[in-house]
Amino acid sequence: MGKNLILYYSRKGENYVNGSIRSIPKGNTEIVAEYIQKAVGGDLFELETVRTYSADYTECTRQAQEELRAHARPELKRYLDSLDGYDNVFVCGPCWWGTFPMAVFTQLERLDWTGKHVCAVMTHEGSGLGSCERDLKAVCKGAAFGKGLAVHGADAARSETTVAAWAAKEAR
Ligand SMILES: Cc1cc2nc3c(=O)[nH]c(=O)nc-3n(C[C@H](O)[C@H](O)[C@H](O)COP(=O)(O)O)c2cc1C
Repeated sequence: MGKNLILYYSRKGENYVNGSIRSIPKGNTEIVAEYIQKAVGGDLFELETVRTYSADYTECTRQAQEELRAHARPELKRYLDSLDGYDNVFVCGPCWWGTFPMAVFTQLERLDWTGKHVCAVMTHEGSGLGSCERDLKAVCKGAAFGKGLAVHGADAARSETTVAAWAAKEAR
């Protein structure tokens, strides 16, 4: 089996869970990203923005919509410089207006994807994978794509078995 990289963005704090707004100590995507690592091993790399989004859920959705419309590429606290040595890359993030947060693309656009096996992982509250696979394909030129995984965010903590079985199939 090759070497795995699990790239993820995940927002802690107020979130929309099954129709109501609640505060969560760990982001849903972070939970799923850790399950992938536990199942198939590899390195976790968290994408964190310099400018934090509002803790207020509604305000955060507004900020995210503005960034999506502007095709913003928010600055990150640290960047991964290269994918050398990795065979499989799991790109994980929440669904924000149907796709990954713009911060995920800030990182993706800086890397050479030639020859990598890439899978999209999205946590969501109803949109599934949205357009994230199409958007990944547009950015990760030269990569081969595996089957994406959509996890209902509110069920993230109960998704370990499903996530582990899927990751074991996708890690080449
Ligand atoms: C800014 C923002 C936009 C969102 N947009 C969507 C959406 O379009 N579709 C959807 O199903 N869920 C949407 N959600 C819900 C999140 O995708 C879901 O709660 C996810 O599991 C959060 O992951 P995280 O805790 O790792 O950040 C949105 C949440 C936020 C904060």
